[in-house]
Amino acid sequence: MRTHYCTDLNETNVGEDVVLTGWANNYRDHGGIIFIDLRDKTGLIQLTCDPEDSQEAHKVANDVRDEYVLIAKGKVRLRGEGLTNPRLKTGAIEIVVNELIIENKSAPVPFVIGDKNVGEETRLKYRYLELRDPDVFEVFRLRSKAAIAARNVLDANGFLEVETPILTKSTPEGARDYLVPSRVHNGEFYALPQSPQLFKQLLMVGGFDRYFQIAKCFRDEDLRADRQPEFTQIDVEMSFCTQEDVIKVAEDLLEGMFKACGVNIKPPFNRMTYKEAMEKYGSDKPDLRYGLEMVDVIDIFERCDNEIFTNIAKQPHKNRIKALKVPGADLVFSKREMKSFEEFVRKFGAHGLGYFQMKEDGLKGPLIKFFQEEDINLLIERLDMQVGDVVFFGAGEKKTVWDYMGRFRNFIAEHEKMNLIDEDAYEFVWVVDFPMFEVEDGHVKALHHPFTQPKDTDKDDVEEIESIAYDIVLNGTELGGGSIRIHKEEVQEEIFKLLGIEEEEAQTKFGFLLDALKFGAPPHGGFAIGFDRLMMIISKKASIRDVIAFPKTQKAACVLTQAPSEVDNTQLRDLHIRLREQVKA
Ligand code: AMO
Repeated sequence: MRTHYCTDLNETNVGEDVVLTGWANNYRDHGGIIFIDLRDKTGLIQLTCDPEDSQEAHKVANDVRDEYVLIAKGKVRLRGEGLTNPRLKTGAIEIVVNELIIENKSAPVPFVIGDKNVGEETRLKYRYLELRDPDVFEVFRLRSKAAIAARNVLDANGFLEVETPILTKSTPEGARDYLVPSRVHNGEFYALPQSPQLFKQLLMVGGFDRYFQIAKCFRDEDLRADRQPEFTQIDVEMSFCTQEDVIKVAEDLLEGMFKACGVNIKPPFNRMTYKEAMEKYGSDKPDLRYGLEMVDVIDIFERCDNEIFTNIAKQPHKNRIKALKVPGADLVFSKREMKSFEEFVRKFGAHGLGYFQMKEDGLKGPLIKFFQEEDINLLIERLDMQVGDVVFFGAGEKKTVWDYMGRFRNFIAEHEKMNLIDEDAYEFVWVVDFPMFEVEDGHVKALHHPFTQPKDTDKDDVEEIESIAYDIVLNGTELGGGSIRIHKEEVQEEIFKLLGIEEEEAQTKFGFLLDALKFGAPPHGGFAIGFDRLMMIISKKASIRDVIAFPKTQKAACVLTQAPSEVDNTQLRDLHIRLREQVKA
């Protein structure tokens, strides 16, 4: 129907006859001439309906209201002197309308398209209206470009796109499963995949050699700004490969996807071991857009005159005393603010947060009296303390200290008085050599998943066992992760055993995998990138919901379709389900 999109036109089109289509963004009647801003997915252009040009079109324009669907025919003209609008891409021109068709009317809309201050419930209930905003649309244009780039890069590297089942058996990625009851098999359930992990491994056993999929994954977990119950992974697996081969593919993939979105990034990315990440940044997803590295000071505190610290320092294997120097903090933060930092870390298990300030006449602070002069000098030297700097201390059990000091590091960097984050930076880092297991409340758990290749199982402490697993981190967000997998049945069985999964349970849950590993499974490995998270960072959005066309709320609900919803009794009966209690009368 159209000859152009609205913002395709500019001064070079002056004098051309055009047909445009879209929605009435707004209309103004100025002394008999009606101006309508016509909007399509690309943006706005001004339609000018002057009775002197066309009586008929002017008459139709009189009836136009917000969000009416229009087809406008007319001529491109330069706007008059002083009438240009520099805020619009098409602000130098207008369309002199000679025919206007109202293709459809619109009821009054619940919010003005483009209004960024509408509550989330309303926005999501009428998501299709929000999507009309060209700024919102832009994210999906980029998302499509990035997906196509991913396919192109992987295709060029010999990867095959394969779809794996959605109705399947539970894959343990650490979250709860979404279950689907079977009508045919009374009392039995499918699980929606948390990831295609096991199927992609089976494709390797099947000799496919290089697989990828832009895969929907489902996880019933607590939602956060960067988590949705259903999300998309760019999922990759390859055979006869080393960690280096996999990392190279992931870097090529990311480079291609970023390029498609107009951002040049330069792999290879830096690497850091898990240990280094935890010791220096207190996190396995360090944000490297700023420094603020934590420094070990347990040896200095061991010699101080305060039992709390000396007791902690006696067990350097279990505990940590970490110092975080914040340059210039003494000059910008009040005493009250320093105190509030303590409240912040207490939320994450800290007992307190000591600090020293570097003044003109030396290091000061309530704890200073416990230290010998030479140790104070050692602290000043190790932390390179300059006048105005403040050093904060976290002391206690190592995981707790890493966690709250890591969070505190981010908190300080984001603090409006520090503002240490360069919002335009893309700081990638591979975190490698993850531990294979973590122990939580006495239970051994796989840190990545139980199919990861351990480096060496011959350690007394299971937490010391490292795995060939790697995460790609961008600006403090875990963008993706992967590993080299176990391809020998006996190793897989040993790992299940270490995880406390009995033989019978292993057979019931993963018998098909153990079987497959018996039949000549090749060495293999891969990774998955969280596509939504990647788009969130590229398009600089604060919430993952902004990069998903029809997202769920924080409570995992779709306010647009009202899912989840009750179903009628016949449906339940067919599925052999009886509700224990009727939730609503
Ligand atoms: P993992 O569980 O680390 O690995 O997931 C890979 C990436 O997927 C993204 N992601 C999510 N994004 C949005 N909402 C969620 N709820 C969510 N959960 C995860 C993250 C994450 O880094 N099978 C392995 C990969 C492999 O080993 O090949 C896996 O799924 O960006």
